[in-house]
Amino acid sequence: MINMKKLKNNKYIFIKGFFSLILLKYLYLDLSYAEEDTNYILNGPLAGSFYYTKNKPGNKENVIQSHLPLLEINENTLSVSTPHEMKGYEHYIIKHIVLDSRFNIISEKVFDPSKEIPISRHDIIGYEDKLYVLSICNNHDTWVDIIKIKKP
Ligand SMILES: [Fe+2]
Repeated sequence: MINMKKLKNNKYIFIKGFFSLILLKYLYLDLSYAEEDTNYILNGPLAGSFYYTKNKPGNKENVIQSHLPLLEINENTLSVSTPHEMKGYEHYIIKHIVLDSRFNIISEKVFDPSKEIPISRHDIIGYEDKLYVLSICNNHDTWVDIIKIKKP
């Protein structure tokens, strides 16, 4: 004879375990995809050709230091600076662009090389995980780096 009470209890344990496994798998996949995104952007096939990164500077290895954006988060503000000359419109940083972890543009700053230096500040209230930052030079193209947002 089947013990209905025991069966119901086992069914409940099974359902609870099943959904816990799904939740764990979802969280694990989400984390591993997030890590894959970071690695793909910084080291994948587009890096070194469509844009440049610290590890994949393509044929621009000699200008990494002056083109890779320096990133710092202070509370809810992201500061971006590019240690690059602003030689009028001859050679300058055109703009900084900040994207959220899903590649939506959240902020950008266009520079006037006749009177500005390539430093920008961006409000990042409400954003989490990581930010993608682009710094664009008129001669040496687009440079990308990523900064992780620490949870408070
Ligand atoms: Fe440049």
